[in-house]
Amino acid sequence: MKTAQFLSKYKKQTNGSDRFLFFAPGRVNLMGDHTDYTGGYVLPAAISSGTFLFVRLLPQDEIRLTSENLGEHKTISPEAFSKRQNSWTDYPVGVLNELEKRGWKKQGMELVYFGDIPMNAGLSGSASMEMVTAFAMNTIFELGISAKELALLSQKAENDFVGVQCGIMDQYTIAFARPEHALMLDCHALEHREVPVSLDGYQFVAVNSNVDRALVSSGYNQRVKELHEVRKVINTFFEVPYLGSLTGEDNEWLDKLVEDPLLKKRLRHVVNENTRVSLAAELLEQQKTELFGKLMYDSHDSLAYDFEVSCRELDVLVKLASQVEGVAGARMTGAGFGGCTLNLVKTDAVAGFQRKVMMDYKKETGLEASVFPLSFKGEIREITN
Ligand code: GLA
Repeated sequence: MKTAQFLSKYKKQTNGSDRFLFFAPGRVNLMGDHTDYTGGYVLPAAISSGTFLFVRLLPQDEIRLTSENLGEHKTISPEAFSKRQNSWTDYPVGVLNELEKRGWKKQGMELVYFGDIPMNAGLSGSASMEMVTAFAMNTIFELGISAKELALLSQKAENDFVGVQCGIMDQYTIAFARPEHALMLDCHALEHREVPVSLDGYQFVAVNSNVDRALVSSGYNQRVKELHEVRKVINTFFEVPYLGSLTGEDNEWLDKLVEDPLLKKRLRHVVNENTRVSLAAELLEQQKTELFGKLMYDSHDSLAYDFEVSCRELDVLVKLASQVEGVAGARMTGAGFGGCTLNLVKTDAVAGFQRKVMMDYKKETGLEASVFPLSFKGEIREITN
């Protein structure tokens, strides 16, 4: 099913009294990965693709969920409502559980999801599914929950119900991002400023490695644990309120405090990556494309070697990109262990980039890469006729 087909099927069914349609975008992160759960900085933007949700209120108690992408229907009875099913339904049902704690009265519904974000690409398909659910319920039932609270409760659903210890970046971005802008987000203060997301004559292009991402949640939770350890070690010397508060200037003496070589590397990534985010936001504002691109390569190396969340295929994609004329920078984006790279490519070099990367990636890995130029028009909203 294509987006246009989904819309033409469901748009005409909405009536604003018991049938509704919503959209929440996905996101791509330009700089700052694995920093959000340290209370650090990130620089994400909402993309035009995302998740659509059609809601029909039902007289009976059950929640019926459909994924148009998977062609799957599941019914959640009132008894099963607060139990994890280890299925895609955990994302929306986790959110409904959180909403119930905040005053939503359980109501029978049919929920039909359709995503036009490539699945498993690290572009926040799951957070966009959570947020479209939270936003829809808040709108339909007039719950009066703020955008920030919707993001926080969706994150909590993912932490507690789904079991991934994710930070706030994805949900916050989806709640607040406006078209054509990135957010320079302080994940500790939960405040952001907007930065226009264009670089003259260049285009951001995502390349999906199409790698099986089986390791992503265990690897992710492991990194969260390691950073807890790092903080414990530093806190035996003095109190650091959160790791994201450390800057590049702290690197030298921190290196001496943390002896374990693995924890040392993890810390080095977090401190350097946080420093890069502030710089990247300024470079974007000042249209300094080359320097921005260089930071992308530095960030990739740091994620690959210090934080070890890349994989061979992502490294191959970044290397191949760096060999193409007209590419200013490339890095993995998001949680890693597969998913996408983000590339900054001269607009008139995009077609050549696509051909070359797809061909050479296939030669080196045997896998097909999918290349898609990004546009940044997504915004969370109700779709009315
Ligand atoms: C996933 C998580 C985010 C963030 C990124 C890595 O997308 O959901 O909270 O930690 O990985 O930057």
